[in-house]
Amino acid sequence: MPAMLEVHHLTKRYGGRRGVEDVSLSLERGEVLGLLGPNGAGKTTTLRVVSGYLPATAGTVAVDGHDLWEAPYEVRRRIGYLPDNPPLYGEMTVYDYLHFMSELHEVPRAHRAGRVNDVIERLDLADVAGRLIGRLSRGYRQRVGLAQAVVHEPPVLVCDEPTVGLDPRQIAQMRELIRGFGREHAVLFSSHILSEVRLLCSRVAIMHRGRLLAQGAPGDLTAELRGAPRWSVRVKGPADDVRGALAAVAGVAEARLAPEGPSGEEGVVSLIVDGRPAGAAGGRRAEAVGDDLFATLARGGWPVRELRAVETTLEEVFLELTASEQAAREAETGDAGEDAEAEAAEAGGGRRGRRR
Ligand SMILES: Nc1ncnc2c1ncn2[C@@H]1O[C@H](COP(=O)(O)OP(=O)(O)OP(=O)(O)O)[C@@H](O)[C@H]1O
Ligand SMILES: [Mg+2]
Repeated sequence: MPAMLEVHHLTKRYGGRRGVEDVSLSLERGEVLGLLGPNGAGKTTTLRVVSGYLPATAGTVAVDGHDLWEAPYEVRRRIGYLPDNPPLYGEMTVYDYLHFMSELHEVPRAHRAGRVNDVIERLDLADVAGRLIGRLSRGYRQRVGLAQAVVHEPPVLVCDEPTVGLDPRQIAQMRELIRGFGREHAVLFSSHILSEVRLLCSRVAIMHRGRLLAQGAPGDLTAELRGAPRWSVRVKGPADDVRGALAAVAGVAEARLAPEGPSGEEGVVSLIVDGRPAGAAGGRRAEAVGDDLFATLARGGWPVRELRAVETTLEEVFLELTASEQAAREAETGDAGEDAEAEAAEAGGGRRGRRR
């Protein structure tokens, strides 16, 4: 069975300028895939092409086995799209607008009223159904945007930074809606908020400068990046002796004093211990190394305040990937390149009017 959404080697250029380059993704029913990346990474471009609002320069998009190029209507019928700035008609009431959108999305006439009432209830819009969209708060407008995206019951929902500009309560509601939708359908959404991605997604795709740097379950990405275990140790004892003893444990690559400096308590030192990767020469199972670290400290007669395995966070994965990609580029071109200049100019000019 084909995946709900398949993106193969998608490239989109704006004139000569790179939007996205060679991006491949796939999404199954019941999955929420988060596109994560800094400003200008190509998230919006990817979502627009996937939703059929921008033509690709190269590559293919298929939804439920239908190719976007060969059967654009089949695809658009199966996708709901909440753009970063939904084109809502301010002079229409919420009810009329959703009715109009259900018609555009080709909901059969006999079902339109039922579908509209359904999304109004589901998105808690009953109180504002008769009001003009232009007079609604940002949070309500965003919910109307989501309502139009799901009014035709598409199996795939695409949302571009759906929680931007919302207050904390609305953010929680929007996330709950996305999560709920993801359970029955398939959701592709973008964000540059790592905690949001971790919270909502079964899989993450990290983008930077138009390219996909990595994708996988958040836990797999963090494990893959670290590759080797790490421990944080706080112990009462002489710094040099403790460090030397820990560094000598089999499977340890390096033990060093933690950069945060003195821990406050007299005579207590903080250290970071890096293990060797389990598969590499001299590598051992992380648990076995951890046990030996503890035994070594006990043998030295040094009271242990803390000994814990350090998890790599998604933040670290993100920073590491985007930094190493940048370094590789700079090494290749001798400078940060035309993109960086253009982005700096863009940053200097403020964000493109989206965050009002
Ligand atoms: N209409 C356009 N014309 C020319 N270049 C564009 C256009 N839209 C986007 N770009 C460029 O394509 C690249 C990717 O932009 P995109 O908007 O997809 O990034 P993004 O990840 O959504 O960023 P943000 O986090 O700021 O929303 C950027 O370099 C951007 O300047
Ligand atoms: Mg964007």
